[in-house]
Amino acid sequence: MQSIINDIAEQMAQSPDKGIVASYIPQLAKIDPNQFAISVALPNGEIYSAGCAQTTFSIQSVSKVFTLTLALGKLGESIWSRVGREPSGDPFNSIVQLEHEHGKPRNPFINAGAIAVADAIMQGHQPKETLAEIVQFIRFLANDESIVIDEKVARSEVETGTRNASLAYFMASFGLFENSVDAVLGTYFHHCSIAMNTHQLATAGLFLANNGINPSTGYAVVSPQRAKRINALMLTCGHYDGSGEFAFRVGLPGKSGVGGGILAIAPGKASIAVWSPGLDVIGNSKLGTEALELFASKTGWSVF
Ligand code: DON
Repeated sequence: MQSIINDIAEQMAQSPDKGIVASYIPQLAKIDPNQFAISVALPNGEIYSAGCAQTTFSIQSVSKVFTLTLALGKLGESIWSRVGREPSGDPFNSIVQLEHEHGKPRNPFINAGAIAVADAIMQGHQPKETLAEIVQFIRFLANDESIVIDEKVARSEVETGTRNASLAYFMASFGLFENSVDAVLGTYFHHCSIAMNTHQLATAGLFLANNGINPSTGYAVVSPQRAKRINALMLTCGHYDGSGEFAFRVGLPGKSGVGGGILAIAPGKASIAVWSPGLDVIGNSKLGTEALELFASKTGWSVF
């Protein structure tokens, strides 16, 4: 395993086209694109890393996997009255479907869907309380108390997030929100701004590769059926309008973020986190996807 990922990191370092860092969040535009990391966490507790696996990055939309998991824990299946389970085929920040579909977002991974999930998990609490719960949950999954929100990134998102505000107000206009739009947006922007490294992220995803059980604690985070379903959503919706392409090239459930991170799950085998900040035109990590494609072909791991 170590030599497989060393080879991949070496190949990625030599790649001439590293993609383009997200610029619509000013704080992310400052990140050096010449960085790459990969970590592979196995259910037996072994973890292998190559590249800058101790460098933290903004997990952005990868956080939506954890907020969905929390929402399922709090609300059970009733969360599906707030958000759908179909791929959107549209960009992550698109508003078009909301008007025809009564303000109900297609899935929990597009921005509108994750904002609706944030509203659902708040249950009348303040953003601070909800965020403390989200961060605590991720620390527990990663078995690492040092994980925090990057306040600079969060502020940068609050200051420039007019599209997300539009999505939130549009959904609220259907009478669907239980909390104030400002409070929901504050929660959403801050959970997207959680900073992690690939070592922490791969560890946090292990429950999805291990029938819902966190192997470091032996604690059942979710039932095996729920783990399967979260993986199914990652496969079909985790890369937005690039989900089909990711399934075609990599063949594993995956969730990307505009910070350049991707969490991929090989059920029964491993949780894999990659990070490279340069993105493709859809907004998914360019080298991260290439690295996972190589990894899947070298290991033969696939859900197909
Ligand atoms: O709301 C946003 O636009 C960001 N906080 C998250 C978007 C994102 O990560 C899309 N992923 N590729």
